[in-house]
Amino acid sequence: MYHKRIEKFPDDFLFGAGTSSFQVEGGIKEGGRGIAVHDLKKPKKGITDFSVASDHYHRFEEDIELMKELGLNSYRFSISWVRILPDGKNINKEGLDFYNRLIQKLTDSGIEPIVTIYHFEYPKALVDKYKGWLSRESIEDYVNFAGILFSNYGDRVKYWLTINEQDHLLKIPERIGFPAEMTGLEYERNAQTANYNMCVAAAKVTELCHKMIPGAKIAPIINPMPAIPASNLPDDLIASMEFNELSAYYMLDLNCRGKYSPVYRKYLEDRDIFPEINDDDMKLMKDNPPDFIAVNYYMNQTIAVSSIKEIALRGKEVFVSEEVGIYKIAKNEYIPQTDWGWNICPEGLKIAIMEIYNRYQLPMLITENGLGAYDKLENGEIHDSYRIDYISRHLSQVKDCISLGFPVFGYYAWSFIDLVSGREGMDKRYGFVYVNRDNDDLKDLSRIKKDSYYWYKKTIAERGQDL
Ligand code: BG6
Repeated sequence: MYHKRIEKFPDDFLFGAGTSSFQVEGGIKEGGRGIAVHDLKKPKKGITDFSVASDHYHRFEEDIELMKELGLNSYRFSISWVRILPDGKNINKEGLDFYNRLIQKLTDSGIEPIVTIYHFEYPKALVDKYKGWLSRESIEDYVNFAGILFSNYGDRVKYWLTINEQDHLLKIPERIGFPAEMTGLEYERNAQTANYNMCVAAAKVTELCHKMIPGAKIAPIINPMPAIPASNLPDDLIASMEFNELSAYYMLDLNCRGKYSPVYRKYLEDRDIFPEINDDDMKLMKDNPPDFIAVNYYMNQTIAVSSIKEIALRGKEVFVSEEVGIYKIAKNEYIPQTDWGWNICPEGLKIAIMEIYNRYQLPMLITENGLGAYDKLENGEIHDSYRIDYISRHLSQVKDCISLGFPVFGYYAWSFIDLVSGREGMDKRYGFVYVNRDNDDLKDLSRIKKDSYYWYKKTIAERGQDL
């Protein structure tokens, strides 16, 4: 629909950027930190691990100065579970102090902190003790962890995020502590049990947050990839709708309504992987909906119906090209891709915002959006016009949505500073600030502002007038 647009973003709009602890901090053997499951994963050949990352653990003050200069009015980061509770049970004061200093520096700098409680970093000790999220004991340990954060930081942190991309997390076995050999029916059943336990845990933490921190707001984080039908065949539209249900909304339906949606329920029943649930848990979820929804958006998908007529298990890959009997991913001549084959479709962000609001009627924060690229340092400069183009076109869609009346109250580019990409190490960079290292050579880890840094600074200062 053609419509009039706001001239600038609202005065209280949160212009932010984000990181996560394991991707940026390093110092994994320092400050009494315990072992997280992914610390043990052997990186692909030639790709770095997380032991030094961007060295934010030692340089967070310098990094916050750079945020201030950029004009960020909010910063999203995660708290390492194993810095606070190295064995999942006992508090490590050094870990508490680290985040206390970080949060204080942010608030002193006029930057609103927004904290992800759990971003892909699970204590190995809890996997050893009771198999992590497969056991109900995991719920209480997560609630205990969150409660410690609320009581220590709740005076300064008003925005909280429960679990980063639970929808994707369950497809990355090493991040939840499932053994790599676990496959097939066993994997699928266990993933559904873990999903259910995480939803119950998130509901309990939502309840606790509201009790412990007056006025605080808390949300789940979803990574939707809104589907475009591959053709005007009605079955492609139905397959697109089913793709959205099974890849994203199934989780929000549990978080926001305490319900398994019909398509998701049937999917689980047909494959005999429906987890054990109970009425008290479902009521707890229903009674404790989030205050807003956090959306991480990178790409959309183009979807066609799968012509194979059979019931099959999906498998544990994050991106499957075909869910037998339901949908398959199709090519789309209108949508370019990144160097890693991720679709670039800014309109997809608008579609996600419209769909999510129409379904849940909750305000939204865009908590991740950005471009992973091979950046080149040339004569001390990084000319990342491709990133400026990507972010400006996505942010423009957010402006459009606000103009239409959709309640989006902030945008966090991914990422503030270069960090270790989960699968691609330092090759795939996302930051506004370059970190001078590569996979094999730590160099001097110095910080260099990219062209996109200056562009975002101007955009924030002008409140997106040019978008
Ligand atoms: C998001 C995660 O799904 O994708 C981030 O929350 C991650 O942690 C980002 O870095 C980009 O993914 P990748 O694999 O390119 O690092």
